[in-house]
Amino acid sequence: MAMGETDKKLLRALRGEALTPPPLWLMRQAGRYLPEYRQVRAKARSFLDFCYSPDLATEATLQPLRRFDLDAAILFSDILVVPDALGQRVEFKDGEGPILEPVRDRAAIDKLKTTPGPDRFAPVYETLQRIKRAMPPEATLIGFAGAPWTVAVYMVEGRGGTDCEEIRKFALRKPADFARLIETLVEATAGYLINQIKNGAEAIQIFDSWAGVLSESQFRQWVIAPTRAVVESIRKTYPKTPIIGFPRGAGALYADYVRDTAVDAVSLDSAVPLAWAAAELQSRCAVQGNLDNLALLVGGPALEDEARRILAAFAKGPFVFNLGHGILPDTPPEHVARLAAIVRRWPDR
Ligand code: CP3
Repeated sequence: MAMGETDKKLLRALRGEALTPPPLWLMRQAGRYLPEYRQVRAKARSFLDFCYSPDLATEATLQPLRRFDLDAAILFSDILVVPDALGQRVEFKDGEGPILEPVRDRAAIDKLKTTPGPDRFAPVYETLQRIKRAMPPEATLIGFAGAPWTVAVYMVEGRGGTDCEEIRKFALRKPADFARLIETLVEATAGYLINQIKNGAEAIQIFDSWAGVLSESQFRQWVIAPTRAVVESIRKTYPKTPIIGFPRGAGALYADYVRDTAVDAVSLDSAVPLAWAAAELQSRCAVQGNLDNLALLVGGPALEDEARRILAAFAKGPFVFNLGHGILPDTPPEHVARLAAIVRRWPDR
């Protein structure tokens, strides 16, 4: 019998159902911790070429599902394809991460394409179609993009791993110019995500990895408002596709984020207290998370205890098991298999 899309566990949880055991997927489930990923990665000239090669990106997406019992495939791509499509120079240097030619004034912002050429994303859409045809029917295909704020961080800082000082100064000094950049990103991101859904994505995650560096007022302006605009734009075309927001590091502002962006689900970083999240967030939407990625790397009783605490804390409401941030490259794949077994057998040992 064919699997109806509404029977898929991940979609049921994202729409508000409490499931025992909960569905499971892991941020960065495809990546360097898998030897078979490193093999495919070696075939591409650059990381962006990899993201734009439907053959290689489809293979990387499916690898973790072959090894582990997971409920979702997440498109293999990167959040920095959006600045690339807007015409900014983006490069991934081995061992250094992304390097971009910084956008720091109005002239540079005005030079960006306001709508990315459709051809730049064409291979990504092709990849989604291929994944959909090849993946297990009971798994859900997740599309994604970076939130406008986090993508802007890389565009303005020119690299990752900073304390975001340049972009925060820019936003405080020239709010009107900065708003123009954010508006460009809202439009490009919403269009990109709508097309991902059109090409097979069944749920969407919006990664706001640098949401935690802002003051309350700046958080409302540059994290909540643009995310809400992206969510509203997607819902005009696809009102039923669940949207997961991930405002990493938002602390107590997670509650405002959930209320004001109207996301269907929220992904929690590892610092969010479990009982607080169950009471204040899970009452309003589905929650996802929030295992410490170092507990997964370390394994053993640390992994077992942390995973069980999280499973128990969120058992009574809609919940998706995940990490608080992506899998680290030195994580032994056997620990991922162990985690999948712990979640699947929950609440039994
Ligand atoms: O989750 C998945 O399996 C899907 C693929 C995915 C990647 N990046 C692949 C990737 C997703 C969802 C992302 C999102 C992403 N990319 C974020 C948001 C999530 C987060 O981690 O905070 C951010 C901030 C980026 C930007 C980015 N891409 C950085 C900072 C780096 C370098 C750091 C690193 O781990 O190397 C990347 C490169 C990148 N994106 C890799 C992968 C598998 C490693 C590149 C390689 O294979 O050499």
